[in-house]
Amino acid sequence: MSSSSTLTAKPSITAIVAATQSNGIGLNGGLPWKLPGEMKYFARVTTGESPSTDPTQQNTVIMGRKTWESIPPKFRPLKNRRNLVISSKGVDVSTAPNTSSHPSIPSALSSLPTSPSPSRTFLIGGSQLYTTCITSTPPMVDRILLTRILEPAYECDAFLEDFTSHTSQDGKEVWKKASHAELEGWLGFKVDEENEEKGTRYRFEMWVLDQ
Ligand SMILES: NC(=O)c1ccc[n+]([C@@H]2O[C@H](COP(=O)([O-])OP(=O)(O)OC[C@H]3O[C@@H](n4cnc5c(N)ncnc54)[C@H](OP(=O)(O)O)[C@@H]3O)[C@@H](O)[C@H]2O)c1
Repeated sequence: MSSSSTLTAKPSITAIVAATQSNGIGLNGGLPWKLPGEMKYFARVTTGESPSTDPTQQNTVIMGRKTWESIPPKFRPLKNRRNLVISSKGVDVSTAPNTSSHPSIPSALSSLPTSPSPSRTFLIGGSQLYTTCITSTPPMVDRILLTRILEPAYECDAFLEDFTSHTSQDGKEVWKKASHAELEGWLGFKVDEENEEKGTRYRFEMWVLDQ
């Protein structure tokens, strides 16, 4: 790859989200459910299997200001990951290690390591950021790790764009569901496809841009 194409390469960004069958993702500024096993999956995937000891080489998580505020202070910044917070007003992250605040999505993207990079970048919410990044043309994310909450039907007031039904101008589906084997191949570890925690059933899925 030439140095100019390296500099202009579009960053590969994976959205990671848990959503009900009605695409509900949040309630009252927080998550509608408490699923420790699902949280462990999120942490393992976004951190990567062997995070670098050099913070600048770690995976990146990008989030909106409200999602940042929804994380209990003792758990933020998300450890062993670069945390990028997007806010037009700015967020005081001066005491948070490996964390920066950005006034716009392009500003955050310009701080990502240039491709090719061994680290991965994840968009971790919330509703506003997912919508912007999934509905742009072309989408700013090229992969979506979806935890589909099958039951119960949790009450929600924040929603994920219904990306699975998006079609292009020629009527083709924009997103294609990968097989579970493809998901495990990308993750680099095995995981049960269907899971149950305290009466909540959910399924790990991976969707990729069909291009
Ligand atoms: N189920 C899941 O996987 C999941 C994951 C994450 C979050 N959530 C839930 O989602 C809900 C929060 O979602 P939300 O939509 O209310 O908030 P959000 O997307 O986390 O944050 C919205 C804020 O981010 C900033 N922002 C967003 N887009 C921007 C842009 N293009 N340029 C500049 N700033 C921008 C703005 O901050 P300023 O107002 O400061 O400008 C905006 O008010 C919560 O209930 C949370 O628990 C669920």
